[in-house]
Amino acid sequence: MKPSYQKYIPFQQISLPDRQWPNRVIDKAPIWCSVDLRDGNQALVDPMNLQEKLEFFHALVDMGFKEIEVGFPSASETEYEICRELIEGGHIPDDVTIQVLVQAREHLIRKTFEAIRGAKNVIVHFYNSTSTLQRKVVFKKEMPGIIDIAVQGAKLIRELTEGFEGDTRIRYEYSPESFSGTEPDNAVAICAAVMEALGSTPSNPVILNLPDTVQMCTPNTYADQIEYFIRHLPNRESAIISVHPHNDRGTGVAAAELALLAGAERVEGTLFGNGERTGNLDIVTVGLNMFTQGVDPRLDFSDLPKLRALYERCTKMHVGERQPYAGDLVFTAFSGSHQDAINKGTQYMKESGTEYWEIPYLPIDPADVGRQYEPIIRINSQSGKGGAAFVMQTAFGYTLPKAMHPEFGALVKGACDAAGTELSPQQIFELFRKEYIEVDGPYQLLSQKYIDESADDGSTTKGRFVGTVKNNGFDPVDVHARGNGPIDAFFNALHQVGVDGYHFEDYSEHAISIGSDAKAVAYIRLTTPEGRTVFGVGISHNIYYASIRGVLCAINRAERARQAAE
Ligand code: KIV
Ligand code: ZN
Repeated sequence: MKPSYQKYIPFQQISLPDRQWPNRVIDKAPIWCSVDLRDGNQALVDPMNLQEKLEFFHALVDMGFKEIEVGFPSASETEYEICRELIEGGHIPDDVTIQVLVQAREHLIRKTFEAIRGAKNVIVHFYNSTSTLQRKVVFKKEMPGIIDIAVQGAKLIRELTEGFEGDTRIRYEYSPESFSGTEPDNAVAICAAVMEALGSTPSNPVILNLPDTVQMCTPNTYADQIEYFIRHLPNRESAIISVHPHNDRGTGVAAAELALLAGAERVEGTLFGNGERTGNLDIVTVGLNMFTQGVDPRLDFSDLPKLRALYERCTKMHVGERQPYAGDLVFTAFSGSHQDAINKGTQYMKESGTEYWEIPYLPIDPADVGRQYEPIIRINSQSGKGGAAFVMQTAFGYTLPKAMHPEFGALVKGACDAAGTELSPQQIFELFRKEYIEVDGPYQLLSQKYIDESADDGSTTKGRFVGTVKNNGFDPVDVHARGNGPIDAFFNALHQVGVDGYHFEDYSEHAISIGSDAKAVAYIRLTTPEGRTVFGVGISHNIYYASIRGVLCAINRAERARQAAE
């Protein structure tokens, strides 16, 4: 028996050795046409009701769509009523054209013309299927019969337009459905015949929509088909070339992009790629791909979370976590090296003042699509030392010194491993608080005073520490000492309770706001008598006391570690 994969017929490539499209770039937005309310809607388990369609329609208008396929009014009473409500309810702005789909069949075309009465701008979009396979198994007709269906439809549409009452501007769109499965010369022949029947001219061009109805080939082949079609179409300037890729091979977006290189001027698609089977191309992705290349997509994606919420509510579909630009996880880095690079990129942007977006692993600024408030960096056991520090900085305003990142990172990693899941920013902060802020022994400072004795002209810094220190299980001891600053003076005072052998290494501090209260946080690095590095953190309204508490915290942490090891 043959293996299963051998029952599939490989796609026939077309010959286009001098293809031009690979050397081009996309440098302007196409005409966009949303087919959410038709192609997208017809593929839903529960198609949208009137209210949902109206809400969706207004969102599309607000985004900047000027052409919106609103339905298939001859297909059902509901579709007809929705079209009427859009027109009679005054929902359509003057600069927006609604598009209605109809098969090239007489009674359906007549019904469609009834549905569009009173509209200002309409595209009547008619289609019949032209592919080799459909001709063979569905219509059982040769190409001339298929061309005849399209031409008869075109003639009727032209006639109904000429007799149409009112001042509706009617334009035409023809789709040789399953274009990509049609022999290229047959696709050209049927479209040329339709153009002739419609009387298309450069001032009244027809939209020729070339659907990748079922994807059967790689997107480069679709691009070849589009370029071939454009190069062979007679009266080319009387047509606007539109594409409508579906996503059966997961390449709807790629097919649309390569088709644009091949000369397409218009793109039909849906938000987040809804549509029959695996969907249509996702206009959000194609548009934002342009945006990230410095090309204005001429659609507003600045509040993707809002659009996504509307989409999920109206269609009852779900936008996946990894959906480009819109998914929950697409701006999140778990991996340590990614976090580190994002951190450095953020720092670089701040310091260099660059006017460009230059952050590795983030192809777009999340703020440009309304995603500025979520954590870019999330922490799990894969995360690196810089990740936890980034969260402390961005979520809580604590700038941990670089040398402290490995120590705190290891603590967080251990907690992630123990929990078996990611840690939220709040959990990371709790860990920090327990480890560095709530350390209250073995040494406790019952009172403290630092008297600054530095010279007024700043030529010398010195001062005196006076306080009471208690070591667990011992009576409090009054201590006092001088030093060349609060840390030195405090260190010297600690000798009086037997704290010896610690070396001060480094210190950094910054202000933090806790509610409306401004405080200073000091980070202290010491070497223990055994030669280990230990950090301490101190917080106070007074910068001297913040550093003194930081020293005490470091010593307490070291002493606890030593006791735990004994
Ligand atoms: O996918 C398709 O071919 C269509 C046509 C009706 C344009 O949706
Ligand atoms: Zn479609």
